[in-house]
Amino acid sequence: MHAWLCENPTGVDALQWKELPTPQPKAGEVLVEIKAASLNFPDLLIVQNKYQMKPELPFVPGSEYAGTVAAVGEGVTHLKVGQPVACLSGTGGFGTHTLAPADRCMPLPPGFPFVDAAAFIMIYATSHHALVDRAQLKAGETVLVLGAAGGVGTAAIQIAKAMGARVIAAASTDEKCELCRSLGADATINYTQHPVPNAFRDAVKAATGGKGPDVIYDPVGGDFAEPAFRSIAWRGRYLVVGFAAGPIPSLPLNLALLKGASVVGVFWGDFSRREPKANAAMMGELAQWYAQGKVKPVIDRTMPMAELKAAYARMGSREVKGKLVLVNP
Ligand SMILES: NC(=O)c1ccc[n+]([C@@H]2O[C@H](COP(=O)([O-])OP(=O)(O)OC[C@H]3O[C@@H](n4cnc5c(N)ncnc54)[C@H](OP(=O)(O)O)[C@@H]3O)[C@@H](O)[C@H]2O)c1
Repeated sequence: MHAWLCENPTGVDALQWKELPTPQPKAGEVLVEIKAASLNFPDLLIVQNKYQMKPELPFVPGSEYAGTVAAVGEGVTHLKVGQPVACLSGTGGFGTHTLAPADRCMPLPPGFPFVDAAAFIMIYATSHHALVDRAQLKAGETVLVLGAAGGVGTAAIQIAKAMGARVIAAASTDEKCELCRSLGADATINYTQHPVPNAFRDAVKAATGGKGPDVIYDPVGGDFAEPAFRSIAWRGRYLVVGFAAGPIPSLPLNLALLKGASVVGVFWGDFSRREPKANAAMMGELAQWYAQGKVKPVIDRTMPMAELKAAYARMGSREVKGKLVLVNP
């Protein structure tokens, strides 16, 4: 097998494509022959030693991938050799094969292409858990999605629309805003034309007839958090999803008091570990929504696995719209 190995987490440049011995699955594991792997933002952080999870060195990055089961370990009964699966195991995806915990693999129903499957679990699970469970979003409410043309952002637009909400999508270019409208966003804000703080806050207010959004989905943080929170509606819910802009923002808590508003944390990874039954039910609903065409990953482009470094560069420079997927021949 071959894989991109991280021996020294100093950044993307240090990754090396290496031939490695193909491992045998231990009890509770499967060996997956990888067909496609998607890039998620944490994949960028993990090779720079900036992610909350610090894997033992050396490791192969690639949190999310899809392929076929090539071998099963002892005690694995729900997966068999040849079965197509999607996996989210944190590492291992940027190669030709990897060992995965069997309970982190989702068997794929017929008609689920590997490219879509590799780009599915992280973004839809995060956005469903955020909007349905944490925000208790209702039909007719308005959602502001920041970083709306990114991975979790595009999923949030589709899920909010599937729930009957009105969506305002905020992104950094007209091209990204156009993509968001094609996904069903009712209004868009190009935040480079409405800079933070005041012009951005005013644009959000104007797009909601002065009322403000009921729910704010924020995977960006940085300078956007406070003006967004200042625009929130009475009884609004502000979802803390991520910090793609870098700095972790602080919010003046008097704003929560004045709006009767809630700041709501979203940590899908721990939700899936702490509440596995609720997570399984959610994944079942998402698979149904995929089959019904209510959600479908936006694939920015596919690139050969060998071009991982160029793929990382595209993500780092904010060029990716939706999800970038690496494929093996
Ligand atoms: N809480 C959870 O359970 C959970 C789960 C998954 C992901 N996340 C987090 O959610 C965030 C987004 O993840 P993702 O996979 O959707 O990433 P992504 O596809 O790269 O999207 C992130 C978006 O953030 C915006 N952005 C603003 N400033 C940026 C900067 N300096 N660098 C890069 N992007 C910037 C970009 O949109 P514009 O160019 O339009 O500004 C970009 O489209 C990450 O922080 C990730 O760790 C959290």
